[in-house]
Amino acid sequence: MKIVVLTGAGISAESGVPTFRDADGLWEGHDVMQVASPEGFEADPELVQRFYDLRRAHLTDVEPNAAHLALGRLEKTLGPDLLVITQNVDDLHERGGSTNVLHMHGELRSALCLACADRFEWDGDLSHAPACPGCGAATLRPDIVWFGEIPYRMEEALQALQEADLFVSVGTSSQVYPAAAFVHWAAEQGARTLELNMNGTIASEDFDEVRTGPAGTLVPAWVDELLDGL
Ligand code: APR
Repeated sequence: MKIVVLTGAGISAESGVPTFRDADGLWEGHDVMQVASPEGFEADPELVQRFYDLRRAHLTDVEPNAAHLALGRLEKTLGPDLLVITQNVDDLHERGGSTNVLHMHGELRSALCLACADRFEWDGDLSHAPACPGCGAATLRPDIVWFGEIPYRMEEALQALQEADLFVSVGTSSQVYPAAAFVHWAAEQGARTLELNMNGTIASEDFDEVRTGPAGTLVPAWVDELLDGL
């Protein structure tokens, strides 16, 4: 059985990583567009670099929760038949044992050079304008896909969604495209669809089944159920 799991900020909420849209459209006190758009970066690069520096540093304070661990456990049985596509830029899936992870919105622990367009693993800060390890220019930015930019690896995602028998959406508000369209792409090719979220979302009616509650409870329960049935 081939499964694609799409995850959003809700899966990391119980680890202490704040979601985007649960606090009046503000993300840690900032308008989302101010810190997650090329225009915001152009207007105030220092603010945006510092914002992501803090979030990158915060990764060492958080741990994967039961939902990340359950997906890691599921991959041990399914191997490459499980693909996790995440909109999250944290590294909690990897630390939860998943290896087949597609970060469609980039990663905090990566830097993108505006001069040479290369990407580099990055654990430190960027606000002090360090030199690019590739070309030496001081033009590194967070390797995050901002509003108006093109998500990574969409061909692979589309291929996996077309081949999937089951599509599961976990902890995403389904307000941001193209991820919000994945349920349609998968269903069109015959996949069963399941939404796991704290609440219903604007997309709930598009799923075959919806379960509401915290991801840290719902995901392990779903994984247990699935493994029992294999
Ligand atoms: N368990 C399950 N779901 C939860 C939990 C939880 N503990 N806590 C919150 N949620 C749900 C909320 O109900 C909401 O539907 O997680 C969802 C979080 O939604 P958003 O904050 O909109 O996050 P996400 O869908 O990942 O945002 C998508 O938008 O800003 C951009 O690029 C950014 O990747 C991000 C994208």
